[in-house]
Amino acid sequence: MPPPYSILTDESPVLNRRESHLLRSFDELLHDFIIRGGPQPPEYSVLNRAIRHLGDSVRGGSLSQEEVSLYIQEVTEKHLQGTMQAEALAQKYGYSGDFEIIDHIYTRKTHSDPSLRLWDLYFHSQAAPVAVRNRKGYFQDLLQKHLEQHSGPEPLQVLNVASGPSRDVHEFYLNHPQANLQMDCVDMDAHAIAYAQRLCAPWTERLRFHHRNVLRFVPTRGYHLTWSAGLFDYLSDRLFIHVLKAMMSVTQPGGEVVVGNFSDFNPSRDYMELLGRWQLVHRSQETLLALAERAGAAPDQTEVQWEAEGVNYFLHIRC
Ligand SMILES: C[S@@+](CC[C@H](N)C(=O)[O-])C[C@H]1O[C@@H](n2cnc3c(N)ncnc32)[C@H](O)[C@@H]1O
Repeated sequence: MPPPYSILTDESPVLNRRESHLLRSFDELLHDFIIRGGPQPPEYSVLNRAIRHLGDSVRGGSLSQEEVSLYIQEVTEKHLQGTMQAEALAQKYGYSGDFEIIDHIYTRKTHSDPSLRLWDLYFHSQAAPVAVRNRKGYFQDLLQKHLEQHSGPEPLQVLNVASGPSRDVHEFYLNHPQANLQMDCVDMDAHAIAYAQRLCAPWTERLRFHHRNVLRFVPTRGYHLTWSAGLFDYLSDRLFIHVLKAMMSVTQPGGEVVVGNFSDFNPSRDYMELLGRWQLVHRSQETLLALAERAGAAPDQTEVQWEAEGVNYFLHIRC
């Protein structure tokens, strides 16, 4: 008999015997945590290992991704409503990584119900959300460095491609109220633009928001810094090169293009893909440098850096 909280029953029509066995042991572990109100920090490694084991089974072909997805969807709907995991699965705006969930990662949103809160703390402890929070600081440090190097009365011109919630921009102006910085923010989601405009309302004179698809349009002001995070890891190589070329073409000589991309070292990849249905194109340093070269950057113009977690790479191109 499966435990009373279990989703899987002996009559599960969609599972073959082998899948049923693999998922059932995961189901038992998960429901033990559900009964106890979620994993405590010392237990994270047990659950992380079990998720990686699921990932290995999918990669090895002994379990289908569809069955895992179906199972996770059912468990989440039944037991984890309102958690960050449920929010990731719901794709409220029609795609993974929308401005709202990204902002909930930045602000470490947790459920008010104590019996669900531990699940959100577990979500926020994963390497991927930590790396997302780190990239906010990375962008802010980059802005500060460029401001320090910038001379003359004209403002530093920055282009922010796929700007999402603009929490990073909001915090930067809050901490640098006098910053001589003008920024163009582009995003294709009208909800993201409206949200960011509200968040950044005190600094509208130094900000311009463009509701556009960057595959078709980038503003052409002539920028000292063009930045994008959370976009390139959703793009094929062809589109990566297309958008990178566009960013390079609107950056002034002596300026810098910096684009973020999740690295091929992401310990929470199985968690994202299997429990959050959140797929990214993970890229190695070599791949990023090769794509930069195909976009027209000379090798001595480019380098790859990363945030403290090592999960988010940043391709830097000196123009
Ligand atoms: C993961 S969020 C990243 C937001 C922000 N850069 C950050 O790091 O906080 C991705 C954003 O990219 C936007 N986006 C995706 N494809 C786009 C495109 N082709 N043109 C413009 N924006 C796009 C989405 O609407 C979303 O707001």
